[in-house]
Amino acid sequence: MSRTPYIAGNWKMFKTIAEAEVFVSGLLPRLGDVDGVDVALCVPYTALGAVVDSTRGSRVEVYAQNMHWAAEGAYTGEVSAAMLNELDVHGALLGHSERRELFGETDRALQQKVPAALEAGLAPMLCVGETEEEREAGDTERKLRHQVQEGLEKVPVERLAEVTIAYEPIWAIGTGQVATPEQAQEAIAFVRALVAGFDREAAERVRVLYGGSVKAENAAELLALPDVDGALVGGASLDPASFAAIVDAARG
Ligand code: 13P
Repeated sequence: MSRTPYIAGNWKMFKTIAEAEVFVSGLLPRLGDVDGVDVALCVPYTALGAVVDSTRGSRVEVYAQNMHWAAEGAYTGEVSAAMLNELDVHGALLGHSERRELFGETDRALQQKVPAALEAGLAPMLCVGETEEEREAGDTERKLRHQVQEGLEKVPVERLAEVTIAYEPIWAIGTGQVATPEQAQEAIAFVRALVAGFDREAAERVRVLYGGSVKAENAAELLALPDVDGALVGGASLDPASFAAIVDAARG
């Protein structure tokens, strides 16, 4: 089973609309005739409409960085799938560790968000990953099992392969301390085995990305690992040249 490599940038709380437009006009010519790699940008809500418009017709897919599970309601400050669909957004990043750690995102909420996104026609990208303390205590697999099982529990089996999972060890995010190839491969193979626990065929098709201090310099080594289907890139996705270089590394 060959899975198309997937390179996603997560801008986090960076870039105004004007800055996003400058980025896109720098990125598109650099992507040129990139073939055989899927590319996504996870963009702040305020710049979604502009980035959807300026990437139309390109291979860049645009994701929100969060989404509420309900169709609508009294949820001040939240954004629904229908609101994202109206902007022609492709998908939603769900359960990023910064949302979990800083804003109280729970596995219980994600259990609702992942199927809600699929039902609304949005591609969910579910983030999982352990803290440094959990890794040191030998709790990595327990943590991943819990996060993957909760996040996928209410997804209909026939739609499991449409979910992208991003394994992002929290100790590697924004620290420059990238996981070793062995650590990345082992954790991502484990995540795939967890998906196989729901459905074997879905596990062959589901894409599992690595995230945490991915740069142009270390991307090729990570992307060559058998179970690593792509990268979720933070800091290095803010500059069009370095992001395009990572996309290039995925071409093999
Ligand atoms: P960095 O690439 O900046 O470490 O961030 C990773 C990340 O959190 C992507 O979602």
